[in-house]
Amino acid sequence: MLDEAAADVFARAAVDAVRRTGRFSVALAGGSTPKGLYSRLATDVRCRNLVPWSEIDFFWGDERHVPPGDPQSNYRMANETMLSKVPAQPERVHRVQSEHADAALVAEWYEADISASIASRAGTPCFDLIVLGIGVDGHTASLFPGTAALAEGNRLVVANWVEMLSAHRITMTFPLINAARLVIFLAAGEEKADVLRRILEPKGPARNLPAQLVRPIDGEVLWLLDGAAASLLNASLITGT
Ligand code: 6PG
Repeated sequence: MLDEAAADVFARAAVDAVRRTGRFSVALAGGSTPKGLYSRLATDVRCRNLVPWSEIDFFWGDERHVPPGDPQSNYRMANETMLSKVPAQPERVHRVQSEHADAALVAEWYEADISASIASRAGTPCFDLIVLGIGVDGHTASLFPGTAALAEGNRLVVANWVEMLSAHRITMTFPLINAARLVIFLAAGEEKADVLRRILEPKGPARNLPAQLVRPIDGEVLWLLDGAAASLLNASLITGT
């Protein structure tokens, strides 16, 4: 159900953008939740035939600082589940060059690619769609609690040192995410229920939950949750079955 709903939103956003502008720009999420969405887009005949694959510019909301063939790579996951199975244009798959040792340089290159490829709105590149996941600690993309990237107010992409991972992550920042037309959060499973309640039904100022700072300036946020992830939410918040 979650994958079906997400695929429907993705396909409609893509068709609409291509109808309006001739192209569709999307930033994919990493982790495990989006695998079902990507696989459905690539294999469900209805979705596959609806999506204007050759007009899409694919980016990633974040990437691990590993080579593209690494099991940890978000690029590898999206390529295996979707991109290798659809007629995407190779030159429009904007992979983060995360095999390079200098994470700060990788972030600069990626930011330059975004600025050169995505039309700006009010001075910031404006993605048609950004797909995000959420961690149980409230992180999204690679914007983890207590990390420097949370305070970044100018750069579009940074190399964010994540102490608990002892690794850099290349991540889009809030200025870029909040410039998008549409942001969808995908969350599934009981383990996400508590953080979703704290974000969507805060009883007082929920602290240090980065996903709460995703507030598109001139765009929409959709939370696409399965029943288990939504299980602690007040029924009035939930639309759709
Ligand atoms: C990543 C993602 C990250 C992910 C969350 C949820 O690179 O891992 O960008 O933000 O979306 O950690 O991950 P799951 O979908 O695996 O729960």
